[in-house]
Amino acid sequence: MDSYMDSFNATLSRMPALEHRIAERPGEFRILTGDRPTGLLHLGHYFGTLRERVRLQDAGVDTFVLVADYQVITDREHAAGVTRHVHEAIVDYLAAGLDPARSTVFVHSAVPELNQLMLPFLSLVTEAELHRNPTVKSELAASGRALSGLLLTYPVHQAADILFCKGNLVPVGKDQLPHIEQTRVIARRFNERYAAVFPEPEALVNETPELPGLDGRKMSKSYGNAIQLAMSADETAQAVRRARTDSERLITFDPERRPGVSALLTTASVCTGRTPEELAAEIGDGGSAVLKRITTEAVNEFLAAHRRRRAEIAADPAYVVQVLRAGNARAREIADATLTEVRRAMGMVYEGGQ
Ligand code: TRP
Repeated sequence: MDSYMDSFNATLSRMPALEHRIAERPGEFRILTGDRPTGLLHLGHYFGTLRERVRLQDAGVDTFVLVADYQVITDREHAAGVTRHVHEAIVDYLAAGLDPARSTVFVHSAVPELNQLMLPFLSLVTEAELHRNPTVKSELAASGRALSGLLLTYPVHQAADILFCKGNLVPVGKDQLPHIEQTRVIARRFNERYAAVFPEPEALVNETPELPGLDGRKMSKSYGNAIQLAMSADETAQAVRRARTDSERLITFDPERRPGVSALLTTASVCTGRTPEELAAEIGDGGSAVLKRITTEAVNEFLAAHRRRRAEIAADPAYVVQVLRAGNARAREIADATLTEVRRAMGMVYEGGQ
């Protein structure tokens, strides 16, 4: 785990220079990033990634966003609800400001040529290497299931996600760094073995600490501690009301000893731009009731515009379908060109020309 933290810190220390290069020459970058559609996107996604993607798109970086539907079945048996989750994810992207004229939104299952890249890529990695991936290990432990071939090899599939469009910049959370490292190794080995086809992508991580769920644990749909972007103001109030706090009236920010109280303070803090300590001091001995009221108001106010836009977009499902169809078509065109290049580099083009 130490080497894991070392590599995270090393990546972090490269960020200022990387941000500088992006600001100077946005046209030299292509971003590929994505979400696994296992549920609805929540406030943690908003602060962790959605906002970041829109910022980069607006800075002039060519942006690809993948709704990674095949990744849903890495650690579970069924893709239950995936149709809805894909649809809702796209609604949230658009509401957050992704512009389909500048960003390409697509799904794995609609781009066969991307998936085919997994074959040559699998030949470039060893089983031992795959077994060492710390993110795969923790996902395996959390799944409570036997290790499937797909869970073991999905980092290779994720390399195909990134490399099919020659993405050279991948904005991700730190749990994804092992996959970016694996992608770089695959790109390097392909280029050495065959021909210089792929860039070695860089991770773009931000220092914003992860937003905790309402109980202080990691915000996750499976813990039932998330504030989803699609919730109404009333549903948000209910979720906050259900959050477990404690009976001490004096509100203080103390994540170790008071995880529930502190999680609410952090949530209100990110939504208002004020510090958790400042908010705690203001609530004083108002107890959990005041804390919950303040948190609910902060979230609802912050998300009001997003929710208004998402309601407008959701009212026109045909538009959402059209955005995805156009994104899939563009991704497919690019994947087809890259696969042809790969087959040519490998000496596997038989029909002449092409
Ligand atoms: N594995 C990522 C996650 O769980 C989602 C993802 C799939 C992704 N393909 C990607 C992220 C490619 C970055 C690049 O969040």
